[in-house]
Amino acid sequence: MPPARPRRTGNQGRVGTRCARMMAMRDQYGRPLTDLRVSLTDRCNLRCVYCMPEDGIDFRPPAELLQDDELVLLVEIAAELGVSKVRLTGGEPTVRPRIVELVRRVGAIPGITDLALTTNGLLLEMLARPLAAAGLTRVNVSLDTLDAAKFRRITRGGDVGRVLAGIRAAEAAGLGPIKLNAVVVRGFNEDEVVALAALTLDRPWEVRFIEVMPFGTVADVADAGIVSSAETMATIEAALGRLEPLDLTGDAPARTYRLPGAEGRLGFISPVSEPFCAKCGRIRLTADGRLRLCLLRDDEADLLGPLRAGASRDEMKMRFRAAAYRRPFGHALAEKLYPEKRVMIQIGG
Ligand code: 5AD
Ligand code: SF4
Repeated sequence: MPPARPRRTGNQGRVGTRCARMMAMRDQYGRPLTDLRVSLTDRCNLRCVYCMPEDGIDFRPPAELLQDDELVLLVEIAAELGVSKVRLTGGEPTVRPRIVELVRRVGAIPGITDLALTTNGLLLEMLARPLAAAGLTRVNVSLDTLDAAKFRRITRGGDVGRVLAGIRAAEAAGLGPIKLNAVVVRGFNEDEVVALAALTLDRPWEVRFIEVMPFGTVADVADAGIVSSAETMATIEAALGRLEPLDLTGDAPARTYRLPGAEGRLGFISPVSEPFCAKCGRIRLTADGRLRLCLLRDDEADLLGPLRAGASRDEMKMRFRAAAYRRPFGHALAEKLYPEKRVMIQIGG
């Protein structure tokens, strides 16, 4: 087995990020493109209510998904265009075969200084150590409630105990700082935010509350009444005390705060009530090889088609650059224009 790669410190990451922003290509609105989110699969071992419809989706046959070599090539091109941060998503990325080897290959691409994973945590107990040894920097784990019955309901059958074991394993493997993502859904978990926030009192974690975003066939979940970040903050403050602001710049999607005396921090991600599109430096590569130009719009550019048709590396780079350049500015949720072509499980957040 090749030796583990040296771990990067947070400080190197920050300096690297500033530098990367200056070097990165810009889109038509001048936004630097530094972050690539790569969906490894459209499958998942859970079925969260806000992510996929109850009767499922038509999964793509594996042959229509990016193969390992194709995926690595496209990330190499992204890195040449100035992307420095890669986040692996899904569906559930850990169900992709050979994920550890893939992490090793993506992490070794010159220019990639930060390689993270967003996961539901179910398989982390087994995978945290090998992933860390392969070069993964950190994980975000989705956790919408600590209550076993509510967790089963929101994920349509999941076991919260396994997720908690996965989080502990990730922490032990050095995949921190641990970030937990909670999508707040009215009627499912809006009363769970206090217990989740309280996790940060004696743990150095960041618990982030995300406003549910409406996507085509699951839009009804959001339409039932979005719980705004303002409402979530008020609920938490009423129970646990005043929140001290830490970073409200909007440079990152989450605005962060600390509970009185807490070790960790809270983040609020408000794509619906306070869109952060002006500072968005992200682009997404779907598991079926399309560049998704905005999470909440249907504009995409097919890369897998031309790649399989024999396009040269230079041509692929040109296509990537051209697509990234025309990233649209901002979503149209306020006008009730919801993305129709895909639901979240087919994009990866
Ligand atoms: N709105 C907001 N967040 C969502 N996620 C999945 N679907 C939605 C939605 N409709 C979150 C998951 C996970 C991340 C990838 O995206 O909880 O943390
Ligand atoms: Fe799976 Fe994550 Fe979607 Fe839940 S939110 S169904 S865990 S991909």
